Amino acid sequence: MGSLFFFYSLVCFVLLSQNFSSSLVQHLCSPNEAFSLVQFKQQFSASFAKTSWNESRDCCTWDGVTCDMLTGYVIGLDLHLTNLSGSIHPNSSLFQLRHLQTLNFAYNNLSGPIPYSIGNLTQTRELNFGYNHFTGHIPSTISKLKHLTLLDLSSNSLGGEIPDVFSNLQELVNLYLSYNSFIGPFPSSIVRLASLESLDLSINSLSGPLPSNVSILQKLVDLDFSHNSLNGTIPSWMFSLPSLYMVELHHNLFNGLSDELKLNPTLGRLDLSHNQLSGPVLRSLQNLTNLVNLDLSSNNITVDEAIPIAFPSLEVLQLSSCELKDLPHFLRNLKTLRALNLSNNKIRGQIPNWFSNRRWDSLFHLNLSHNSLSGHIDLSHYYSLVSLDLKFNFLEGPLPSAICNMSFLNLLDLSRNNFSNSIPSCLGNMTQLTVLDLRRNNFSGSLPPLCTQITSLATSILNGYQLMTTIILNGNRFEGRVPVSWLNCVGLEVLDIGNNAITDTFPASLGTLEELQVLVLKSNKFHGPISTKLKFGFPKLRILDLSHNEFSDSLPAEVFRNFKAMIKDDTNKGEIRYMKRFDSFFDVYEDSVRLVVKGNEIELERITTIMTTIDLSSNHFEGVIPKALKDLGSLWLLNLSHNNLRGDIPMELGRLNMLEALDLSWNRLTGKIPRELTRMNFLAFLNLSQNLLVGPIPRGLQFNTFDNDSYGGNLDLCGPPLTKQCGTSDLSLVPQPLESEGEDEAYFFSGFTWESVVIGYSFGLVVGTVVCSVMLKAVKPKWFVEFFEGLIPHKKRRPTKRAQRRQT
Ligand SMILES: *[C@@H]1O[C@H](CO)[C@@H](O)[C@H](O)[C@H]1NC(C)=O
Ligand SMILES: *[C@@H]1O[C@H](CO)[C@@H](O)[C@H](O)[C@H]1NC(C)=O
Ligand SMILES: *[C@@H]1O[C@H](CO)[C@@H](O)[C@H](O)[C@H]1NC(C)=O
Ligand SMILES: *[C@@H]1O[C@H](CO)[C@@H](O)[C@H](O)[C@H]1NC(C)=O
Ligand SMILES: *[C@@H]1O[C@H](CO)[C@@H](O)[C@H](O)[C@H]1NC(C)=O
Ligand SMILES: *[C@@H]1O[C@H](CO)[C@@H](O)[C@H](O)[C@H]1NC(C)=O
Ligand SMILES: *[C@@H]1O[C@H](CO)[C@@H](O)[C@H](O)[C@H]1NC(C)=O
Ligand SMILES: *[C@@H]1O[C@H](CO)[C@@H](O)[C@H](O)[C@H]1NC(C)=O
Ligand SMILES: *[C@@H]1O[C@H](CO)[C@@H](O)[C@H](O)[C@H]1NC(C)=O
Ligand SMILES: *[C@@H]1O[C@H](CO)[C@@H](O)[C@H](O)[C@H]1NC(C)=O
Ligand SMILES: *[C@@H]1O[C@H](CO)[C@@H](O)[C@H](O)[C@H]1NC(C)=O
Ligand SMILES: *[C@@H]1O[C@H](CO)[C@@H](O)[C@H](O)[C@H]1NC(C)=O
Repeated sequence: MGSLFFFYSLVCFVLLSQNFSSSLVQHLCSPNEAFSLVQFKQQFSASFAKTSWNESRDCCTWDGVTCDMLTGYVIGLDLHLTNLSGSIHPNSSLFQLRHLQTLNFAYNNLSGPIPYSIGNLTQTRELNFGYNHFTGHIPSTISKLKHLTLLDLSSNSLGGEIPDVFSNLQELVNLYLSYNSFIGPFPSSIVRLASLESLDLSINSLSGPLPSNVSILQKLVDLDFSHNSLNGTIPSWMFSLPSLYMVELHHNLFNGLSDELKLNPTLGRLDLSHNQLSGPVLRSLQNLTNLVNLDLSSNNITVDEAIPIAFPSLEVLQLSSCELKDLPHFLRNLKTLRALNLSNNKIRGQIPNWFSNRRWDSLFHLNLSHNSLSGHIDLSHYYSLVSLDLKFNFLEGPLPSAICNMSFLNLLDLSRNNFSNSIPSCLGNMTQLTVLDLRRNNFSGSLPPLCTQITSLATSILNGYQLMTTIILNGNRFEGRVPVSWLNCVGLEVLDIGNNAITDTFPASLGTLEELQVLVLKSNKFHGPISTKLKFGFPKLRILDLSHNEFSDSLPAEVFRNFKAMIKDDTNKGEIRYMKRFDSFFDVYEDSVRLVVKGNEIELERITTIMTTIDLSSNHFEGVIPKALKDLGSLWLLNLSHNNLRGDIPMELGRLNMLEALDLSWNRLTGKIPRELTRMNFLAFLNLSQNLLVGPIPRGLQFNTFDNDSYGGNLDLCGPPLTKQCGTSDLSLVPQPLESEGEDEAYFFSGFTWESVVIGYSFGLVVGTVVCSVMLKAVKPKWFVEFFEGLIPHKKRRPTKRAQRRQT
């Protein structure tokens, strides 16, 4: 009986309380606060067009607004990623929401200073203004927000010194100020924050030393001061604070470790790379027994072999660019290593037995590239490797077939060594291999059969095989034909077998590989026509280099019509992507390729997707230049030199308005140089020499920048830059500058005024210079990015790993 009564009262209570709370919800929002929100909304009206912020509804039901259940006060405002644009006025009605506890405006386009009135929101616990365009200083009124637990101002354009406003914020747990332009000394009030767990000051311009005596940060777990100009010694507290797990001090100017190191062993990740540390740093760190990930790259470190260094938990060790001269013996003690990076040191001689014979049961990544290792290499104990990078050494001998036991191997880069003999044919059975780079060795014999286990995309997915993306065998002594099995490499993006002795006809069937973007067959003994009865595919091809072979016959239009990726697509305008392979540990591999530009062979370290190139030079091609080339609107380089091409230069080539280098020299081209070619605004290199061209050389824009070398050895060209004057019969033909043809061509260059000549000329110089520096340095073509800055909505964004984590 009693229990039944209890049950009834429980039901009544539940029903009543539900009714009660729902009636509460209906009247929650206070009119004043609703009014403040409405005023705020009006200031940013554009962003709120499609939201639920309808004044005829209770403001507590609006998206992003949270109210206190009991009092009805607005306590949370979350408008991250809502496209807010403009500045927040210090008088903004926002600051009347006195009960706000969380304010999240991250990932918007807010600009101007952070209003000092922020100090009015004294109840705020979480303040996130990250990923906006705020400028100016951090307002000192921040110090009034005594309950702050999270302050995120990262990724803005804030500057000046970081004010010492943090001493009062004793509840602060997360402080993120990274990716701004803060200068001056390290803000010492930060080290008095007893609750702090996560501190990120990375990517600023802080300078000077770190405070030496820090003991309050007892709860600090991770700290990131990377990418600043901090100097002096790294103080002992970095290694002794009791909760510290992750320390990122890379890319600073630290020159040593504190003399009085007291290590406590909680530290798991330590990145001191890119500093000016020298001497036996490892020995000083040896008591960090929980260290999992240690990066000391780009310092000048000596390894004191007398002291046994253990690091019993170490999984990732990076000592690249550290001036090491030998493989350090202490590596023998590292049983848990998963990634070892000793690249770019001065390690010389044979790989010692203790290194190759020990068991490397869990080693996934080994990078010994850019050293001076020599002799044979024993790979039988490295069966767990996922990536093996030995490029730029002097290793020799045949590639041991033990390589095929590495059943997880994804990336194999043995390029630029002296390896010889033929390649073990079992390589084709390695179903996880995606990148194979053996360029510039002495390998001989036939090309290795690859992708032998794959018959279709479906089989590879079904069996968990990886798709091969990159095959680079350039610069060896391979002979014979292109293996049939390569047709199975359905994911192939880059194929470079240039500079070998391959005797085959054009492998047109590779045109079925829909992902293929780079095909380099240059300097081999390929022969015959390039068009066959097979349907000519290659829909994604961007770089085609068939130069220095014995290809013959004509260049039929349909060959070029299939290059869909080269046909200009305005929707992709300005989009620049690097071809890059990713891996769980690191960014592992960037495709690179050598091209001949302006007569110099250069290496493009990174292939950007706009470097569209066709090089068919030094073959026996004959017939006319197909007009169909005009459709390849994204073409960057076109080289048809040293062939037997005849007929006129098609005026349609003038439509290739991305073209920067055009080489048609050493052919039998006749007629006049079409003045339409002057439309090529980016043309920085032109070679029409050694043909049978006649008549006046067109003038204007880029053409004013070319000299004699572009035209020498022709039948009867005249006019500047040649000294030969045009006769009177020619004068009527002196090409006039072209007039605007349509609205779609930006006329920046319209008319023939002094200004346009000057602009055109200096523009040519700029393009010429940057092309040159890109070519010579062969580095990332930053100028492309800069050039296109006006076209892409560009915003500095370099989220740290943590920022990405935070975002989720
Ligand atoms: C707001 O809500 C009212 C009633 O529900 C509706 O009539 C009105 O169109 C809404 N206004 C906007 C801007 O959505
Ligand atoms: C953000 O605003 C810009 C202009 O201010 C507009 O072009 C864009 O479509 C908006 N994006 C979203 C997701 O509303
Ligand atoms: C961002 O704000 C600036 C200045 O307030 C404005 O010029 C720009 O168009 C805005 N960008 C977007 C994408 O809304
Ligand atoms: C901030 O607080 C001060 C003092 O309480 C007040 O005078 C001022 O109007 C407030 N500012 C805003 C924008 O609400
Ligand atoms: C801001 O508010 C103060 C007082 O509330 C007022 O005197 C001042 O004119 C306001 N400024 C602007 C730009 O609205
Ligand atoms: C550290 O940097 C400060 C400020 O840039 C400079 O004055 C000082 O000389 C530097 N000290 C060392 C040891 O480099
Ligand atoms: C470091 O701090 C402790 C305690 O706060 C103090 O006793 C000591 O003198 C300080 N040392 C230095 C060098 O400032
Ligand atoms: C490392 O540990 C040993 C033994 O516990 C101790 O003698 C030595 O002082 C410690 N070294 C450092 C730098 O903490
Ligand atoms: C590295 O340090 C050694 C001495 O420890 C010194 O002889 C050498 O010059 C330094 N190298 C560089 C590049 O600073
Ligand atoms: C090794 O170090 C180099 C240079 O610092 C870096 O590019 C690479 O990503 C690192 N990792 C591996 C696995 O090689
Ligand atoms: C490749 O694997 C197949 C079956 O898995 C086997 O029959 C063949 O002998 C292997 N080839 C080589 C060269 O190891
Ligand atoms: C190995 O290190 C070199 C630089 O030292 C780097 O360029 C290369 O990408 C690294 N290899 C891998 C596979 O990460």
